Amino acid sequence: MAPDTLGIRDYRAGDAEITLALFRRAVREVAARDYTPAQLEAWAGGIDRALWAITLERQSTWLAMIDDTPAGFASLNEHGHLDMLFVSPDHQRRGVASALLSVVEQAAQRRGIKCVTTEASLTGRPFFKARGFDVVTAQEMKRRGEVLKNFRMEKVLHDTGATA
Ligand SMILES: CC(C)(COP(=O)(O)OP(=O)(O)OC[C@H]1O[C@@H](n2cnc3c(N)ncnc32)[C@H](O)[C@@H]1OP(=O)(O)O)[C@@H](O)C(=O)NCCC(=O)NCCS
Repeated sequence: MAPDTLGIRDYRAGDAEITLALFRRAVREVAARDYTPAQLEAWAGGIDRALWAITLERQSTWLAMIDDTPAGFASLNEHGHLDMLFVSPDHQRRGVASALLSVVEQAAQRRGIKCVTTEASLTGRPFFKARGFDVVTAQEMKRRGEVLKNFRMEKVLHDTGATA
């Protein structure tokens, strides 16, 4: 059987439902090892679809595809903040998030951003640590009556000499 092919492409206007479904499954099935059911529902439930689509279109967003299957996505805002990074439960630990992060970091570098920041979940922290991020502070995110622990993390980007 041919090996799976991982590709990264830009987000398109029609990708809102795909990314929302990836987000919900990643939270409910992967982050479930670190948060209570009530916390997971506060995080993944009650999302406003229109606001979701506007946010991802406004940010720079990329979709990871394995063959023809959406496997994950990432978004970066104009301030160098990695807002979202979610990988399908079906494709964990296969380098999907790493491939997305490489694209994010290259885009940030082209824009002259020196430092990428993120709010890492308990589930995401080992990934970000492995990819060179440091914890700035532990914090609490309030969502729909629940309090979820997460970490402000940052990674200083070293100049590669790349140009736009
Ligand atoms: C965190 C997440 C994005 C990582 O995605 P992924 O595609 O599985 O990550 P990668 O395969 O690129 O992992 C790269 C490296 O990060 C580290 N890593 C990733 N997940 C890890 C884990 N659960 N425990 C320890 N190290 C981990 C490892 O060093 C890994 O390399 P290895 O598999 O060769 O050991 C994914 O688990 C996810 O979607 N989690 C749920 C949603 C979430 O919390 N997202 C982050 C929001 S801030």
